[in-house]
Amino acid sequence: MEDKKTLFSAVQPSGTPTIGNYVGAINNFVKLQDEYNCIYSIADLHCLTVKQDPQSLKKATYELMALYLACGIDPEKCIMFVQSHVPCHAELTWVLNTITYPGELGRMTQFKDKSRTHQDNVNMGLMDYPVLMASDILLYNTAVVPVGADQKQHIELTRDLALRFNNRFGETFTVPDGIFPKYGAKIMSLSDPTKKMSKSDENINAYVSMYDDTDTIIRKFKKAVTDSDNKIVFDPENKAGISNLLTIYSVFSGVSIEDAVKEFEGKGYGDFKLKVGEAVAEGIKPITNKRLEIIKDKAYLNSVMIKGAENAYRIANRTLRKVYKKVGLYKAEL
Ligand code: AMP
Ligand code: TRP
Repeated sequence: MEDKKTLFSAVQPSGTPTIGNYVGAINNFVKLQDEYNCIYSIADLHCLTVKQDPQSLKKATYELMALYLACGIDPEKCIMFVQSHVPCHAELTWVLNTITYPGELGRMTQFKDKSRTHQDNVNMGLMDYPVLMASDILLYNTAVVPVGADQKQHIELTRDLALRFNNRFGETFTVPDGIFPKYGAKIMSLSDPTKKMSKSDENINAYVSMYDDTDTIIRKFKKAVTDSDNKIVFDPENKAGISNLLTIYSVFSGVSIEDAVKEFEGKGYGDFKLKVGEAVAEGIKPITNKRLEIIKDKAYLNSVMIKGAENAYRIANRTLRKVYKKVGLYKAEL
């Protein structure tokens, strides 16, 4: 346990998680749990940066923990907790804010995108989102952070802040590396394969939710936008739709992309889309069955959350005390 490197990642409990979250993040969380000391969080404080219905946020948090467990993250091997249950995250954010410049936050692509899509609510939290994320990561001496490609810029900022703090106050934080899946770091929308698949898309056919049933999943894949040249080859630049479907198929069926291309050689798009839909539905079904079982057991879910928060707090608080000491905050002792 001790000599393994620490890995940290999180997903926001907003809307329903998509197969993009699964392929880009959660599926890798499961695969990496033996190799690292893994800490997986549910980033509920991050959700507050856009308008949420309080009841839905609460429910989504509970359900995301059930999904983590149903996908195979093992609470005996990993620390699993809800971000707001460990106060150190908000506290470290305050300190890191004092070494972060508004210019570098204003430049973040996600901030610019969300400022456009949430024009009526461009709040300080939205801008500060990456600093909270840096705090999440830096509290745990994290060496690696598995995320999708959209988080690359935030990882860069985390590294910058860690180095800046260390330079100014002495060696404190481990400087983390992002790790990105070889395929599937960016699963694209089914209705517009030039856009990232996102759970906040207003078109429900653009994404497949991890909570969709078999019929819905197959229907959505049948409608997936592709192209008109009827060749099933992997070429993300020129054939974004088909390449996206091949990537999804590969992850859910366990077949390599090369083998999938061979398997579908000469087949029509209709056939292919149906097969992709079936593979995804088949992959999600056992997860759904388990998830619905776990969701019923509130005592178990709460106990996982409480134990996770206690273990996370122990590590996070140690780092936070060190930070407070380094920056010169007085500690009264008897
Ligand atoms: P979020 O839902 O924004 O909290 O994202 C949680 C994790 O899922 C992050 O690591 C994201 O990079 C990843 N993710 C979200 N959408 C996608 C996507 N379309 N393709 C691949 N990874 C994704
Ligand atoms: N910002 C991430 C996302 O939306 C979620 C997240 C919050 C995260 N804190 C993190 C990911 C720390 C990795 C590490 O995808």
